[in-house]
Order: sequence, then structure tokens, then C-alpha cells
Amino acid sequence: VSGEAADRWVAVTTLDDLWEGEKQAVVIGRVEVVVLNCDGEVFAYEDRCPHLGSRLSEGRFDGAILTCAAHEWTFEGRGGGGVNPAGACLRRFASKVEDDVVYVDVSAIVTERRGMTGVTGTQ
Ligand code: FES
Repeated sequence: VSGEAADRWVAVTTLDDLWEGEKQAVVIGRVEVVVLNCDGEVFAYEDRCPHLGSRLSEGRFDGAILTCAAHEWTFEGRGGGGVNPAGACLRRFASKVEDDVVYVDVSAIVTERRGMTGVTGTQ
């Protein structure tokens, strides 16, 4: 019954390849994602700077702060909030780690792009 929900998780990498303090670019369908390992906790964001759309995976990550290479906007690795400018915010995706495998769920943006945002709103 919950098969559809379970299928939203896509294995993108493992903790063998994404060490603490590292970032990695992955693609799920047509969605470009950057995954970060902050002290053992994994976060996933759209790989697109909210400023002018540069790929954040091409920027720098020091284990806590992600810096866009284009114009140096900075974001918190944990949660994706803007550090400078503070009002900016990364688009976060759900992520989880099971048996050292990193899974990301981008179904929210996929649904959005299909113009079906109302589907998940039914109760
Ligand atoms: S595109 Fe990222 S800071 Fe300008």
C-alpha cells in the first residue's frame, strides 16, 4: 500500500564516498542535487544557488558552511539557511542514511514541475 511512498527514496551515494565535511553532486531524474555530510549528518539541497542559479556543488564546503563559487553567497550546511545574505535559503530535500547508504527524496520538486502540487494536498 505504501509502495509509492517508499519509491520516493533514491540511493545516491554511500558514506564511504561522502565523508564528513565533503559534498557531492548527484542527479535524480532531471533534478540536480548537492549532498553534504555535516559531522556525520547528511543534508540534500537543490544544486542551484538562489542568487543566479550557479551549481553549489562547484563551490566550497568547509564542513559547516557552503559557499557559492560565483559570488560568494554563503549558506549553512545544516538546514540551508543563508549566512550572507541572511535572507537567502537553499531548497532542501529529505534525506536519510540506512546501512551507510544515502537516500534522497526529490518527489516534491518533481511533482511541482509536473504541475500536480494539488495531489499531495488531498486529505
Ligand atoms: S549565483 Fe551563487 S552567489 Fe551568485
